[in-house]
Amino acid sequence: MHVLLATSELNPYSKTGGLADMVSALARALAGPATGAGLKVSVVTPLYRGVAEAHPGIEPTSWRLAIPLGDGLVEGRFHCCKPSANLTLWFVEQPGFFDRAGLYNESNRDYADNAARFIFLSRAALILARHLPDPPTVLHCHDWQTGLIPILARHARLQAGWTQPPRTVFTIHNLAFQGSFPASTWGLTGLPSDWLHLESALHFERVNFLKAGLTQAQAITTVSPTYAQEILTPEYGCGLEGLLLKRYNDLSGILNGVDYEEWNSASDPALPAAFSAGDPAGKAVCKATLQRELGLPDRSDVPLFANISRLTDQKGSSLLVETVRALLDAGESLQFALLGSGEKALENAFRDLAKRFPDQVAARIGFDPALSHRIEAGADFYLMPSRFEPCGLNQLYSLRYGAIPIVRATGGLKDSVVDPRDNAAQATGIQFAPYSATALQKAMMKALALWQEPAWLRHIRHNGMTADFSWEKQSAEYIALYDSVCRE
Ligand code: ADP
Ligand code: GLC
Repeated sequence: MHVLLATSELNPYSKTGGLADMVSALARALAGPATGAGLKVSVVTPLYRGVAEAHPGIEPTSWRLAIPLGDGLVEGRFHCCKPSANLTLWFVEQPGFFDRAGLYNESNRDYADNAARFIFLSRAALILARHLPDPPTVLHCHDWQTGLIPILARHARLQAGWTQPPRTVFTIHNLAFQGSFPASTWGLTGLPSDWLHLESALHFERVNFLKAGLTQAQAITTVSPTYAQEILTPEYGCGLEGLLLKRYNDLSGILNGVDYEEWNSASDPALPAAFSAGDPAGKAVCKATLQRELGLPDRSDVPLFANISRLTDQKGSSLLVETVRALLDAGESLQFALLGSGEKALENAFRDLAKRFPDQVAARIGFDPALSHRIEAGADFYLMPSRFEPCGLNQLYSLRYGAIPIVRATGGLKDSVVDPRDNAAQATGIQFAPYSATALQKAMMKALALWQEPAWLRHIRHNGMTADFSWEKQSAEYIALYDSVCRE
């Protein structure tokens, strides 16, 4: 079997969030040899600014593209690299579209031509799928940016003589981002105007790329079993719950895994000391070094809480500000480190908190992967009070790095953290249910109580550090799904 993954982000070449980590780790796990699966895997993604320069293994090919987009013809070219025997990465060069400072936006403003940019990527993916000497049997699309691929593939089969296009799988990483554009955008797709209707991509009089993926793909997945259930409800369904209910039999939730080559505390080049479940001593060095790096007092006796995220409503960032402030006002002994960027008001709220409590709070506004590793390694507790969380990766990284996760019981957070109330012997963290500062505060008070019980704390931390969320396990579920869509 040959699987082509189409994605707008790919770690380590481009990343704004977990999509980049997920696709890159899934591709490697599918290609093996670690899994023994050894599928043939290709990935297609944009060649963003600076990527070729930073990764000399990526080479330009002579394969040029000329894709009609509306009234014009847009030219581009494939670049390629082959990280391992079964894995080939294809980068779509189109400087006008992708040689920019951001992936989707700049200064929090979306690029006005995002529809054209990702239609171009989708059409390039289909050209690749059609003309590769060993064409893919499955085309696995991720999020709205590649949502039009299944309908474009169907059109090519019916109208353009492509007798055997690949089967299509569409994965929802976040239903809140749908790629919704004015109906006139349809003209850019090259699809007949009567193909735009309520059973394809039309949604509230607009073209909705995500809906196109959900209506047209053979199978739909999302990134945790709980989120797969949640999105069938109005609270989480973002207006698409009715459609998802209709496709219930084709929808499944597969929890993301962790790339334990990148997230290995015993060999992580970003850390000042190595540690592991069997030999945890180095974690204290990581904590002290992190405290100094962040300008916090170097105190082993004070618990260090952390959060690394996009600063937005989804992630519960405002609950964090409110709760940490309340606990520090009440004189609780704790430290809090934040790394994140996003909404300006939230960035400022964290900066203000750090100014008000300089010995307890450090706020780093920005995007810094190496620091994110040092924070996971140095923190005692990791806070994730998300309003919704399709999967979430940081709680998984935290488990392995010994930062006990405190999570709201939603989506993948619910599926990956074991609360002592559910199973004391196998507990790995703390869960709370209501989306409120009061509930988060209670959960943090539980953590402070746990801090006073070293044996219990060590037990929970050890459970987390030895829990297995490897992709070898999770990728088997994707392989089973690919097999089943191919048999249909
Ligand atoms: P989402 O994709 O919704 O943002 P995930 O938990 O799935 O959430 O993944 C987020 C990824 O992005 C993690 O790898 C996390 O460490 C990383 N990340 C988020 N914000 C930052 C930041 N400011 N600096 C470095 N890495 C970050
Ligand atoms: C999305 C989700 C996040 C998930 C990630 C990777 O960005 O918000 O929960 O972990 O995709 O699947």
